[in-house]
Amino acid sequence: MCASNERLPFFSVEKTYIIVPLTSSCEWIGDFETLLKASPHGTRPWSGRRSHSELLGQNNERSDVMFKLLFKNMTAKNWIAVIGIFLLTLGQVFFMMQIVSYIGLLTGAVREKNIAEIWWYGLYMVICAILMAAVEIIIRFVSSAAASSTVTALREKMYRRVNEFAIADFASFSTESLITRTTNDMQNVHLAWLTFLKTAFVAPITMVWSIIILVQNANPRLTVITAIWLVVLVAAVVVLLMLVTPKYKIVQKLTDALNVASRENLTGVRVVRAFNAEAYQEAKFDKVNVHFTKLQIFTGRALALFTPLVMLVMMGLSLSILWASAYVLNNMNVDAANTMFATTNSFVMLANQIVMSFILMVTLIVIWPRASVSAKRIHEVIVHEVSVLDTQNPVEFKESGTIEFRNVGFAYPGTDKEAVSDITFKVNKGETIAFIGATGSGKTTIINMIARMADCTRGEVLVDGVNVKDVRQSDLRDRIGYAPQRGFLFKGNIKENIAFKNPEMTLADIRWAAEIADADGFVMAKRNGYDSEVAQGGSNFSGGQKQRLCIARAVATKPEILIFDDSFSALDYRTDKVVRGRIAEKLPGTTRVIIAQRVGTIMDADQIVVLDHGKIVGLGKHYDLVRNCPVYQEIALSQLSKEELGL
Ligand SMILES: Nc1ncnc2c1ncn2[C@@H]1O[C@H](COP(=O)(O)OP(=O)(O)OP(=O)(O)O)[C@@H](O)[C@H]1O
Ligand SMILES: [Mg+2]
Repeated sequence: MCASNERLPFFSVEKTYIIVPLTSSCEWIGDFETLLKASPHGTRPWSGRRSHSELLGQNNERSDVMFKLLFKNMTAKNWIAVIGIFLLTLGQVFFMMQIVSYIGLLTGAVREKNIAEIWWYGLYMVICAILMAAVEIIIRFVSSAAASSTVTALREKMYRRVNEFAIADFASFSTESLITRTTNDMQNVHLAWLTFLKTAFVAPITMVWSIIILVQNANPRLTVITAIWLVVLVAAVVVLLMLVTPKYKIVQKLTDALNVASRENLTGVRVVRAFNAEAYQEAKFDKVNVHFTKLQIFTGRALALFTPLVMLVMMGLSLSILWASAYVLNNMNVDAANTMFATTNSFVMLANQIVMSFILMVTLIVIWPRASVSAKRIHEVIVHEVSVLDTQNPVEFKESGTIEFRNVGFAYPGTDKEAVSDITFKVNKGETIAFIGATGSGKTTIINMIARMADCTRGEVLVDGVNVKDVRQSDLRDRIGYAPQRGFLFKGNIKENIAFKNPEMTLADIRWAAEIADADGFVMAKRNGYDSEVAQGGSNFSGGQKQRLCIARAVATKPEILIFDDSFSALDYRTDKVVRGRIAEKLPGTTRVIIAQRVGTIMDADQIVVLDHGKIVGLGKHYDLVRNCPVYQEIALSQLSKEELGL
């Protein structure tokens, strides 16, 4: 009877303890599932250069990268927070151990029916529990703030670095990959760092503290039992990790493939419909999806074993300790048995504390490798040496509105052949130079070197009389207005898009630019005029409208040099003529660089550069080229009759 009375408080204590591992392991599995859903990798399966080693985590210094990345980006405040968390954790474990040690005293007081002592011990334990909870809350607050601020700094650093990227740098990382690196990879690092801050100290401290107390208790039988169960737990977790981790790496790789399949299907939805290729696309998607699902089910099932496993160890451990104690208690008198039972009670709690600490550490062990892969990907971007750098000693521009190429060659990274070679020409202020040639002949590549979107790999590019590498990039680009080949608008409204460089621009100036680009008419026809909304990428405008707004944005800054990369091709013949006429009339001193497909667009240019396979095969005026340059002649004759060309 006495024994059953004594058991009651024990089981109630045990019950409260069951809740802790449940919550903790559920949290752990939740984290894992979030990680599975997330794709930390760029959608670039074709890039053997990174994806494989990254996705499979074949990198010996992964963990170092994680710490290197975090430590490098931690401010003094972050370091103080980490030290603070360590000290707070010591306090938290102290209160926890106080509760554990008072259980023995409380049991003694219950035995002696000393009500006053029961109250005092109870009160002390409640205070310790409250303090422990308070410290825990503070630790969570501080770790959340510290983890967020470190990752925010990291994200900012990465964003700034990507903004400095030139074309060659973008060729090293795909756009999708950069987006995933800034979002999902960051999330992984954030989660791992947060978990580290919350658990990395508490687990070892609790474990060491509990082991010290257990050893001090010097109960060899109970210590051996605890050790056996711990070995069972470690072995089970190792097997589980060995089962799950390789699959987990494939899951990451498949997430990548899934991203590509979805993205391709979404961006090419119109083509898919037009070709009735839904079934084909679906089959492609299904292949990845089914494989992905199977793996996820496998990892999910394997991880589902974790909670029952931990429960089994905890229960088994408690049961074994009680069993062993029961034998001892059997031969004792009631007083000695009561004392022994109090010790047993504390022992069960301490043993469970060790199991708990182990679980916390396992959480981190599982999250860390994936975060390390992500950290490596982030690190790659941050330490990537930008190919176009500002000079230390910038010089002054010598002229105004001139462009000169001296024997320029350019090879894209990863290619050994130059995309353009031996490019030499000079344009004076106010002149128009035009580039014409077949697709892929190198027109865009050449003009990209003017504003240092890419640096030539051979020769010299001069703007306003100085090598573009010897001036500040921002000074150089201040002199240049640029309309890209693919009209790109920013989300916002029309006004903001045209006044992109100078948000202070007056509406009159905005309209002046729009009129030159022949865009004022269609903008004013909209209900909200210049305040009309522009969807992301300008998707609510037609190709020609987008191009006109891009031309307006380029001319709005009244630059010295205007570059149009095939900007007129999307315009009808009339608009093309009108826009060129207005640019010539309103911006007479501006040097113009025009890439065009239509001979009609460039006939009046001061110089026409005819390109073929990256080389200049003709340079001069229309009149001469049409007679002396076979490539130009061929292009011209494919568009205009001999009579129109005056041949
Ligand atoms: N990012 C890149 N990486 C590797 N090669 C590239 C890259 N961009 C272009 N090229 C190659 O460089 C060559 C010239 O391309 P470029 O874009 O300059 O041609 P283009 O004359 O502007 O063609 P289009 O009229 O189609 O715009 C092509 O052979 C192309 O395949
Ligand atoms: Mg081009």
